[in-house]
Amino acid sequence: MYCCAAIGNDIYWVGVNDRKTERFENYLPLPSGVAYNSYLINDEKVCLIDTVEVRQSGTFLNKITAIIGDKNIDYLVVNHMEPDHSGSMDEILRAYPEITIIGNAKTLQMIKAFYPSFPEASFKAIKEGDILDLGTHKLTFAMVPMVHWPESMVTYDITEKVLFSNDAFGSFGTLDGGMWDDEVNFDFYKGEMRRYYANIVGKYGPQVTNAIKKLGGLEIKYICPSHGILWRKDINRVIKYYADWAQFIPEKKGVVVMYASMYGNTEIMANMIARELSQQGLKEIKVYDVSKTDSSFIMSDIWKYKGLIIGSCAHNNALYPKMQPILEKLQNYGLKNRYVGIFGNMMWSGGGVRGIQHFTDSLSGLEVIGKPIEAKGAPTHEIKEELRALAREMAKKILEEI
Ligand SMILES: Cc1cc2nc3c(=O)[nH]c(=O)nc-3n(C[C@H](O)[C@H](O)[C@H](O)COP(=O)(O)O)c2cc1C
Ligand SMILES: [Fe+2]
Ligand SMILES: [Fe+2]
Repeated sequence: MYCCAAIGNDIYWVGVNDRKTERFENYLPLPSGVAYNSYLINDEKVCLIDTVEVRQSGTFLNKITAIIGDKNIDYLVVNHMEPDHSGSMDEILRAYPEITIIGNAKTLQMIKAFYPSFPEASFKAIKEGDILDLGTHKLTFAMVPMVHWPESMVTYDITEKVLFSNDAFGSFGTLDGGMWDDEVNFDFYKGEMRRYYANIVGKYGPQVTNAIKKLGGLEIKYICPSHGILWRKDINRVIKYYADWAQFIPEKKGVVVMYASMYGNTEIMANMIARELSQQGLKEIKVYDVSKTDSSFIMSDIWKYKGLIIGSCAHNNALYPKMQPILEKLQNYGLKNRYVGIFGNMMWSGGGVRGIQHFTDSLSGLEVIGKPIEAKGAPTHEIKEELRALAREMAKKILEEI
């Protein structure tokens, strides 16, 4: 009746697909939905790893009882307190009042903040390296602070060599039949994995690098994240993606041209740059109007490509309002290791180009290519030449890199 895919012996996926929620964390669009993965280990002791978002707690409980019948759940391991995973904890506590909730000291503080009436006696704090013995399965824990919350931890099943990796290695997109990396068209999930990384985890590259180092000694047969597809065929592949994304190492030779334009002049400039990039031999060029495309998709491509060319018209002595938020987010996330080009448009005292320069000045890891180009209305012959020169310089830099 319920799809409860098995992972190794006695481990089941009891997660749910969410095709209804419009925006993750109420701001990131979910055109292909999202999955909240939860896992059930049906050993002598029954253990649940995380729960699901509260609106599907009924389905979640049904999935669990389809596997364990009227057996009790002994433990709930809380790898992460964000409500997409802890949201059904209350329901679980109601259905299984004898359950012990397992987390670290920071988890408990957050549980009390989220659920003031939480019965503290139900909580058992573990430390890194502690072992929870379920009978055949033995679980241990590693702290991965700020990947992407302070209390974040991962759980490792020593017996089956499963890493329950929490939000790390997660992706947007529901599980549409295929659950494992070798069962799906990975091109789709890769984009949604990068979009998830860039927008949710992207600020915490150093912490991701530390977490990968810490987990490096483990033999891992399966990676079971709390969103999206599960990994069994090519574990190293997903670890490499994360290692690279954490250090802002681009995947491909390509350029994102993102612009803000009211009357079309900045747009014309963007198109001219893109055409010249193509003439120079670049095959991966993405042109985005920031008023149209949600910034989460642009962020994903900024993580993918080495080149970023930013254009804004002036608006009340400043950046165009739709350009402001994505630059603020990139600043907050410490974008680095990118070549950046700057252009824009104005009519009297400017503001767009100045705003972009403030952005590049605020970050130490960017290399600005050429000089900022600012047109007044329709680009003149001279401006067109400057735009082409900028594109040529950007293309040269990128194509020359190994
Ligand atoms: C509300 C508003 C505020 C503007 N503020 C400025 C400004 O502060 N400085 C400036 O030089 N131009 C300003 N402009 C003019 C535009 O930046 C200018 O027309 C530019 O060419 C528009 O580029 P676009 O064709 O790409 O939209 C403003 C225009 C509007 C509608
Ligand atoms: Fe999270
Ligand atoms: Fe999550």
